[in-house]
Amino acid sequence: MTFEYAPAPESRSIVSIKPKYGHFINGSFVAGKKHFPTINPATEEILSHIALGGASDVDKAVMAAQKAYTKTWSKLSGEERGKYLYRIARILQERAREFAVLETLDNGKPIRETRDIDIPLVAAHFFYHAGWADKLDYAGLGHNPKSYGVAGQIIPWNFPLLMLAWKVAPALATGNTVVLKPAETTSLTALLFAEVCQQAELPDGVVNIVTGDGSTGSAIVNHPGIHKIAFTGSTEVGKKIARAIASTDKKATLELGGKGANIVFDDAPVDETVEGIVNGIFFNQGHVCCAGSRLIVQESIAEEIIEKLKVRMAKIRVGDPLDKNTDLGAINSKEQLIKIKELSAIGDAEGAERWSPQCNLSNKGFWFAPTIFTGVTQANRIAQEEIFGPVLSVLTFRTPQEAMDKANNTPFGLSAGIWSEKGSRIFWASQHLKAGVIWANTFNKFDPASPFGGYKESGWGREGGKHGLAAYLKNGKETGAK
Ligand code: NAI
Ligand code: MG
Repeated sequence: MTFEYAPAPESRSIVSIKPKYGHFINGSFVAGKKHFPTINPATEEILSHIALGGASDVDKAVMAAQKAYTKTWSKLSGEERGKYLYRIARILQERAREFAVLETLDNGKPIRETRDIDIPLVAAHFFYHAGWADKLDYAGLGHNPKSYGVAGQIIPWNFPLLMLAWKVAPALATGNTVVLKPAETTSLTALLFAEVCQQAELPDGVVNIVTGDGSTGSAIVNHPGIHKIAFTGSTEVGKKIARAIASTDKKATLELGGKGANIVFDDAPVDETVEGIVNGIFFNQGHVCCAGSRLIVQESIAEEIIEKLKVRMAKIRVGDPLDKNTDLGAINSKEQLIKIKELSAIGDAEGAERWSPQCNLSNKGFWFAPTIFTGVTQANRIAQEEIFGPVLSVLTFRTPQEAMDKANNTPFGLSAGIWSEKGSRIFWASQHLKAGVIWANTFNKFDPASPFGGYKESGWGREGGKHGLAAYLKNGKETGAK
């Protein structure tokens, strides 16, 4: 028997979106010159118009951040900075529903995720870093570690407010000031966060938000007043940033792409594993740098796992992101949908076998059904390149060593999941996997205390935990970063 769920939409009346936004510089909103629309990717409805920041806007923001750094923020004690961070964290909790609805409208991800994952993690990041602000002497980073000054932060669209929190919270806790640029398709929650900074009476200029596109981001990277860069996004842009700062003394952390694998051994608990694989790739439409976009399953159980996976995939509810029953929401942009379609077509052409459950996809907005490719080989592009969508590539293995070799055989090294009931096997595999984050019998679990980052083309440095603090401090021993 199958059940139909009645629609259970979350009301959008809690958010009030202005028709047009400027930049947030020195504690106030200032008008932009040019604007571009931001849309709801589930309906293509224009939500608002966002300012396209140019070099002069970036310059004003950096000047404000420098002034705030020298006059105010660097003079405050850690305890005082911590108070502001606690205040921001509490306001974020109080306004959680507003943020969740706004994020879902602008990004397309299900309300259940923004409400239960993104926004609670955002608040958790501010609480966690608030706690560190007055304890930096005890973080194992030497006595009285010093901040850099102004941090330039450029973030993507897949976890808009969470990536802001990953960047802003440690920067402020360690005594830096910030110029942040949200992604062009998802600026709204960053602009609402600017209101939270005002509400928290954060001193003017400590956080500045300049909206815009790649040219705006590039102006931040190249501004001489920026001392530290934190970027999350594509490997392509990460490489451009690395080149741009190579001859400067700017420090950087880069969180880039991934081609994560779930490695399933023959003793894995089947139902839990299937649930973990589904969560690993279909969570957030697969718009996750550490997504489990490859399944590497032991040959003897491959058939059983794939069969159960298909049964489970057929139950995924795709549709209105504001509906509380929805599992899989809209693809964030037309460009991203095109990329997913193109790479999937390449999978077909390479001879892999594609399967998706029957889904009624709306013809308004950007949608892609959950998809699995079997019969994938290591050389296939769908086994090597980041698709960044709800598409799983399945490979098989016979020996544990073969599983490790296959898992490591990509240009990336961000995440992996190991599924086995044997602790010794999990430890062995975790030592052989070249991945910054490894989960055992679970996937996509995040915690502010846990450092996050990758090997190889997945980036430089770590965010979160004590490692993440080090990345914002001059004498911090940052692992793997410039
Ligand atoms: P992107 O890397 O172009 O954009 C990320 C951020 O960088 C945005 O704020 C963008 O405005 C900014 N940016 C773009 N060009 C820049 C430049 N030259 N200098 C400084 N900042 C610049 O990513 P995009 O185009 O949105 O997505 C392309 C692919 O990247 C995706 O299909 C996915 O594979 C990957 N990606 C990975 C993410 C991750 O979490 N690691 C997040 C977003 C995308
Ligand atoms: Mg791009």
